[in-house]
Amino acid sequence: MSFAFRHFPAVHDDLRADVLAGLAASPKAIPPKYFYDEAGCRLFESICAQPEYALSRTEHALMREHLDAIAGAIGKVDCIVEPGAGDCAKVRRLVDVLTPAHLVCLDIAGAPLAAAAEALARDYPRLAVTALGMDFVHDLEAAAPHLPPGKRLVYYPGSSIGNFPPDAATALLARFRRLAGPASQLLIGFDLRKDPLLLHAAYNDAAGVTAAFNLNLLERINRELDADFDASAFRHYAFYNPAAGRIEMHLVSLAEQTVTVAGQCFDFYRGETLLTEYSYKFVPREFDALAQDAGWQPQAAWERDGFAVHLYA
Ligand code: AVJ
Repeated sequence: MSFAFRHFPAVHDDLRADVLAGLAASPKAIPPKYFYDEAGCRLFESICAQPEYALSRTEHALMREHLDAIAGAIGKVDCIVEPGAGDCAKVRRLVDVLTPAHLVCLDIAGAPLAAAAEALARDYPRLAVTALGMDFVHDLEAAAPHLPPGKRLVYYPGSSIGNFPPDAATALLARFRRLAGPASQLLIGFDLRKDPLLLHAAYNDAAGVTAAFNLNLLERINRELDADFDASAFRHYAFYNPAAGRIEMHLVSLAEQTVTVAGQCFDFYRGETLLTEYSYKFVPREFDALAQDAGWQPQAAWERDGFAVHLYA
């Protein structure tokens, strides 16, 4: 078995800087990548098991249904690179059919990634696995020295791309292309625009798991940045904005209150929002245009129940 882990320790400093800047901004906002501490990762897995949240189940079914066609369209690859690999569960299917020599997994949650990638390496003794605990939005280029030569497939499933507004999404896909090189491919999964009530329900599950996931961001800041958020004084508020084509997740202050974070005070008025996430939904053609702006040419596309997987070269 071959396994290597490298941790890029800038994540904590960035959390502090981004939270302080985000609370000083108007409207207040914190980037969604900070949801994923250990509790946040567990809550996200639980979201994926909620009946209202079909996204990950649908992608899984799509991949199962079309796996042979997808593998055929991709052809031979030497290396799979997965930004935001999380628990490394999704990439196993691709490893099975593409049998690359190398897998490079990146995730901001370094410890869970290392455990998952090592388990994967044990299950695939002929696969060289490299896990990079990094915030790839910030540090993607630092992954370059860890990529073996040869043909690379960037795998970006789960509609993670939806967290980025269109310009930022294009910029990120262009950075994927620069990292992977001109002979590379991109296999990307994204959620489609659909009935707003279905989308609304997916981010307002009856069991309250999405609410707990959103509020955990405040608990995380308390744990890691010496802060005193009272999570019970904020309301999880998520809705679909059809004009912008995105879910917006907010934490709305239920009272006038002052919060201290790392020695700095921040006032909230009653009803003031802290924006925590955009989750963009796409139209397939528009997504092709976005990818083309980033230098990727459409190669193949699959769709199932309001979810799409596209292959670009
Ligand atoms: C991991 C970004 C795809 O946008 O649906 C789930 C995160 N937020 N429920 C999404 C999320 C609230 C998820 N992504």
